[in-house]
Amino acid sequence: MALSGKIALVTGAGSGLGKASAIRLARDGADLILWGRTESKLAQTGEEILRLGRRCKWYSVDVNKTDEIQEAVRRARREFGEIDILVNSAGVNIPQRAEEVTVEAWDTIVDTNLKGLFFCCQAVGVQSMIPRRKGVIINISSQAGKVALPYRAAYCASKGGVDQVTRVLAYEWARFNIRVNAVAPTFVETPFTEKMLADPEFRNFVMDNIPLKRLATQDEVAAAVSFLVSDEASIITGAVLPVDGGWTIH
Ligand SMILES: NC(=O)c1ccc[n+]([C@@H]2O[C@H](COP(=O)([O-])OP(=O)(O)OC[C@H]3O[C@@H](n4cnc5c(N)ncnc54)[C@H](OP(=O)(O)O)[C@@H]3O)[C@@H](O)[C@H]2O)c1
Repeated sequence: MALSGKIALVTGAGSGLGKASAIRLARDGADLILWGRTESKLAQTGEEILRLGRRCKWYSVDVNKTDEIQEAVRRARREFGEIDILVNSAGVNIPQRAEEVTVEAWDTIVDTNLKGLFFCCQAVGVQSMIPRRKGVIINISSQAGKVALPYRAAYCASKGGVDQVTRVLAYEWARFNIRVNAVAPTFVETPFTEKMLADPEFRNFVMDNIPLKRLATQDEVAAAVSFLVSDEASIITGAVLPVDGGWTIH
């Protein structure tokens, strides 16, 4: 098992890509710490991981609250162990026309997707990875970091920021033997996209833009995460890996 004996922390682990990534890392042998705001959702992921025979603990943490992040990292280290792998998957989107974007929606999206993600990297980096001179971080970005998607000004800005934060951290922390990469999926069916993809017009727009003519699956995104955290990817850092059926080639 490639990740046997490693401890992975996954944010947004109660559903969608965070859940799929956490379960995939557990299958690869890792023990898991799960974060999200809704404990009942985390418990479902956690129980699945315990059934795989791995250790797992879950904590209600809001990545918008930087004090909470710091304390939750301290607690996870005390109760579970030092963190080898961090996967940042917590994220939100509130589609709005550019003319109608509210300050509140902008702040919610950018604070969660970009600011929260950065301070999770900082807390885990400073407390657990830098002192031990090792670690791997994966940020779940999006094709929206690279191409424009309508009605998603704040979301696209946040994901463009995630790509740049990934590169800067990879550059700064290479000297601590910490690799930092991002995975940039196209649309995937999760609770996040359920409503959007139920609209036939929007679904056609999506399909028209994916050369492979299908959505990505949660398992395909988790497989990219699994590769990038593994020693098979030991020379890869600062990369933003598209998992997008070709959306961003044209
Ligand atoms: N699905 C797609 O098509 C797609 C495509 C490209 C990129 N992505 C990215 O993939 C990531 C995961 O999305 P998903 O599709 O898996 O959506 P999802 O199922 O809604 O998962 C997002 C998770 O983040 C958690 N979360 C939200 N705000 C949080 C906060 N302030 N603090 C802690 N946790 C928080 C949510 O749980 P709680 O509400 O319980 O906290 C939820 O479990 C996001 O960053 C998204 O931008 C998704």
